[in-house]
Amino acid sequence: MRWLLLAALALSLAACAGPPATPTVRPGAIPPPEEGTIYVPTAVLATPAQLDRMFEDTPSMQAAREALVSRFVDPRVADERVVAALRKVPRHSFIPTYLLESAYNDHPLPIGYGQTISQPSLVAIMTELLALEPGDRVLEIGTGSGYQAAILRELTDQVYTVEIIPELAAIARAVLDRLGYTDVHIDRRDGYYGWLEHAPYDAIIVTAAPDHLPSPLVDQLKPDGGRMVIPIGPVGDVQTLWLVERQGDEVTMQRLMDVRFVPFTRE
Ligand SMILES: C[S@@+](CC[C@H](N)C(=O)[O-])C[C@H]1O[C@@H](n2cnc3c(N)ncnc32)[C@H](O)[C@@H]1O
Repeated sequence: MRWLLLAALALSLAACAGPPATPTVRPGAIPPPEEGTIYVPTAVLATPAQLDRMFEDTPSMQAAREALVSRFVDPRVADERVVAALRKVPRHSFIPTYLLESAYNDHPLPIGYGQTISQPSLVAIMTELLALEPGDRVLEIGTGSGYQAAILRELTDQVYTVEIIPELAAIARAVLDRLGYTDVHIDRRDGYYGWLEHAPYDAIIVTAAPDHLPSPLVDQLKPDGGRMVIPIGPVGDVQTLWLVERQGDEVTMQRLMDVRFVPFTRE
């Protein structure tokens, strides 16, 4: 609890201060993952009978994607692997078909159930901040459309993602399978508690905004340099994007930029 109180204090101090803050907090002890645990999904994800998605990667979609990447991603992201992932993954396959014409605008788009697929340039920036190496284990909180998970899978083969809305988890599963990302692990659960069975993680990315730093996520970061990118702030208002880094018992938080994310909901 002590580190959590310190984190809350650090966050409120940081909110008052203008320049980037690097408060130091302490995580609790990480319970080691149980050896030989067999993963059983908490819910059976039914694939929708009709998937309202387009999987063909037409020349016009490819051209639109290339234009998006050259204009909004390439200038903002140095890691060529991340840029290549944005060039490769067909964002248009992750959105309802009535939005196809907007697939490669640099905007969030609705995906149903009151949720959105994130802005592509922000997906790229957040992905780069994770500094993923091949073989790293990454956890995403907020699968949504599955797009961010596909981008992560272009960088490492150990991708875990959780979504609280069952229908979205099911659609994302079907889309990722159709595109060949069959080894991305998805579960329907409240991501506040992370996914302990597969912890610790080299990196955690949170794509909905809680009003405080969830302590189970800090606990599930690898103690030797685990990194988390997370928006924190009030519902429906501007939030702050933070880079959280863990070294042993020390956790530092770096304030990055203002963002707007959908609320982090709870069961
Ligand atoms: C901005 S959307 C996700 C964008 C997604 N990463 C993508 O690529 O499409 C945020 C998602 O977080 C989910 N979410 C909110 N609270 C959650 C929680 N406690 N656990 C898991 N998912 C949550 C929402 O249902 C929503 O689908």
